Amino acid sequence: MPADFEALLRKLERRRPERLERDSETYKIMASVFDSSTLLTLYHMINQRIFDIFYGAVSTGKEANIFCALDKQGNYIATKIYRIATTNFKNMYRYIAGDPRFRRIQRERRHIIYAWVSREFKNLQRAHEAGVAVPKPIGFEKNVLAMEFVGEGGVPYPLMKDVPPKEPRQVFERLFEAIKTLYHKAELIHADFSEYNVMLTPEPVLIDFSMATDIANPMSDELLMRDLSQLVRYFRKLGLKTPEPAQLFSELKGE
Ligand SMILES: Nc1ncnc2c1ncn2[C@@H]1O[C@H](COP(=O)(O)OP(=O)(O)OP(=O)(O)O)[C@@H](O)[C@H]1O
Ligand SMILES: [Mg+2]
Repeated sequence: MPADFEALLRKLERRRPERLERDSETYKIMASVFDSSTLLTLYHMINQRIFDIFYGAVSTGKEANIFCALDKQGNYIATKIYRIATTNFKNMYRYIAGDPRFRRIQRERRHIIYAWVSREFKNLQRAHEAGVAVPKPIGFEKNVLAMEFVGEGGVPYPLMKDVPPKEPRQVFERLFEAIKTLYHKAELIHADFSEYNVMLTPEPVLIDFSMATDIANPMSDELLMRDLSQLVRYFRKLGLKTPEPAQLFSELKGE
């Protein structure tokens, strides 16, 4: 662990001595997962008052970790942090860093991730402005995205994959409406729709807009059809009678 990284952690921990124990557990996880540049970004976002302290780890995904943070007003914030370098990548990097042809590799990787995060933020913004139930985006910087926390007391609401809805018909209709509004008002297709990316409050909230794309995308029909097929597949598995995906597709497009 680089020295500046440690200093940064100490600074973060000093902010709330009464929370030290819980916080330092979280920061220990962060120290083991993130590079110093990510820690600096988090520190900068704290200074920007986007959040104040970190509360705990929520999820470890393929590319990103989600942490729960609190802002100065005591609101819970979900923080999605894309990992710049995995352990594997670091090892790879060590081997090839000396090769002048690969000097830019990490930088490029970084910039791809930064662009990805800004797209996810803009997608959430468009969806939110269109009135679709999504976590309200709060801010982003580099590989870190801050958004409204969908949960209570720092505990996230369940994913639809883990806790099937009590009112399948109603939730199915809501989700179809959400996909429709997303298309017509936000001009977006989620493109990764499934029960893994729906949280139930118990009202459905759509999450994970990292793959979402503009309807002008040449693949948009295909992606929309895939989202609708996922919707139908999940609710049919619950025993709900639903229209065919193609029928939903035509209805959505007003054809
Ligand atoms: N705004 C939020 N509020 C509370 N919890 C959240 C929020 N966003 C995401 N989560 C939790 O974190 C998990 C992962 O979030 P998300 O789907 O955005 O990331 P991911 O990178 O796709 O993860 P994975 O690799 O597992 O697919 C979600 O399944 C959910 O449990
Ligand atoms: Mg996901």
